[in-house]
Amino acid sequence: MSFLTYKMTAFLIFLSEYFVIWVLFIFFAPIFKDIEMEVITKIADLQKKIADLRAAGSSIGFVPTMGALHNGHLQLVKRCVEENDICVVSVFVNPTQFNDKNDLLHYPRTLDADCKLLESAGCAIVFAPEVEEMYPVEDTRVFNLGKVAEVMEGKYRPGHFNGVAQIVSKLFDAVRPDKAYFGEKDFQQIAVIRSMVKLLNSPVQIVACPIVREADGLALSSRNLRLTPEQRKNAVNISQTLFKSRTFAEQHSVNETIEYVVNTLNAVPDLRVEYFEIVDGDSLLSVKEWADSDYIVGCITVYCGEVRLIDNIVYRHR
Ligand code: PAJ
Repeated sequence: MSFLTYKMTAFLIFLSEYFVIWVLFIFFAPIFKDIEMEVITKIADLQKKIADLRAAGSSIGFVPTMGALHNGHLQLVKRCVEENDICVVSVFVNPTQFNDKNDLLHYPRTLDADCKLLESAGCAIVFAPEVEEMYPVEDTRVFNLGKVAEVMEGKYRPGHFNGVAQIVSKLFDAVRPDKAYFGEKDFQQIAVIRSMVKLLNSPVQIVACPIVREADGLALSSRNLRLTPEQRKNAVNISQTLFKSRTFAEQHSVNETIEYVVNTLNAVPDLRVEYFEIVDGDSLLSVKEWADSDYIVGCITVYCGEVRLIDNIVYRHR
């Protein structure tokens, strides 16, 4: 073989190796495309995509969020990925649920970072619409969600749960999931969503997921980002006092336990309790005695400086 023929043969082998790689790439590309996360901003595009996935036999799980994602959100996403063929996550700061416009203004918006986290968590579709897409006209619907929406947060944040029901019902319409995942950190929100699902005869199965906490016990929240280092140190008293109150409750009445929690927290610098109620875990109505129910939860809202933090603790499991 002349030197030239040798070189040409080597060059052809080199090309054919690339050819094999290209064939493999073209063959597997549709599979990789399915794995790659898609970010969708229009309801029509989302509905089309989901209709195709459903036609192919996929089950759909859904996690609604307002973004600024942390490990609390990601645990919902992880569970959704495990239990469904396709996990859809919405990232939308819903204006109609903010009764405090200052809170809406300061709500952190970190879509690029959120998408990176969601992709590595195995989310298939992020739905991140603009306000005009979700509310092309003013939503004037008023949901009658019963007592669960009137007590506690319902009393202190008038209109909040109606706004939550407005957006979650619109999102459920757009995604039509089999299952939707919510965190027990917003304990009352889950009861309200269950009430909404009943009201609308919605077929969505609501899955409640446990609270995720920092190592020292503070419940993870997007609002924790707004605490100064000093406030962050003081905020840990919220969860720690709730944990201690479980032991306290073994020897004391419901009212004494309420007093213990409120007084302990109000004595900490930066903290001001808005409410602490001990309620039946289903009806969310106050219990007078520990024997009143076999499922009892304490729900608290505390201002730490300007930042409104919520948490809860279970006293009696069913
Ligand atoms: P957001 O506050 O972003 O929370 C999205 C979901 O994450 C909620 O179900 C919430 O309970 C859950 N979550 C937040 N922190 C958690 C924690 N530390 N442990 C477990 N779960 C946690 O809740 C909302 O958004 C909105 O009201 C929404 C439902 C998206 C409607 O706009």
